[in-house]
Amino acid sequence: MPKSTTVKDYIRTIADFPHEGIMFRDVTTLFADPRGFRMAVDQMLHPYAGMRIDKVVGLEARGFILGGAVAHQLSVGFVPIRKKGKLPGKVISEDYQLEYGEAVVEVHDDAISAGEKVLLVDDLLATGGTAEAGIRLIERLGGEILSCAFIIDLPELGGRARLEKLGMDVHALCA
Ligand code: PRP
Ligand code: ADE
Repeated sequence: MPKSTTVKDYIRTIADFPHEGIMFRDVTTLFADPRGFRMAVDQMLHPYAGMRIDKVVGLEARGFILGGAVAHQLSVGFVPIRKKGKLPGKVISEDYQLEYGEAVVEVHDDAISAGEKVLLVDDLLATGGTAEAGIRLIERLGGEILSCAFIIDLPELGGRARLEKLGMDVHALCA
């Protein structure tokens, strides 16, 4: 029987981007393929069937593409967590460390209401620094994080363990 195509098959790895030594997981090839993109969104939502989700929060930038599609599929609102200085309204901010650098993320202070059930979405979990900053922002606004969903988990970088230590439920489609 021929081997069926998986989400991972649509993702390519590019060596030494954006810096030497980084094996960059490029999901543009997944997003560009209608079957691959549909498969990724459907599989990401599978663990949450029947559960209440009020908002999908996506992390800039690839989490916007994915999170928008996931929110549309659920018929719920989408909230962007953006890099510093991009959101026009009143924001709250959190600093974080990346696999290759450091940054600040922000969310509008009225984007999530206390008690709302939130699904946090991004393409990739590496060190978990970006996701942890997102979690802090959501929790500062009173949001309750149902789960954190990723396409790719790079377990050797410790992100999953870091988020689980914070009490988070973590799902990823591939490593
Ligand atoms: C990537 C990826 C995640 C983050 C994961 O985004 O999309 O958001 O890194 O890394 P971490 O788990 O070590 O925090 P990046 O910061 O490259 O931003 P971009 O999507 O705007 O290019
Ligand atoms: N963000 C952090 N590490 C990454 C990687 N290896 N590939 C793509 N995005 C990333």
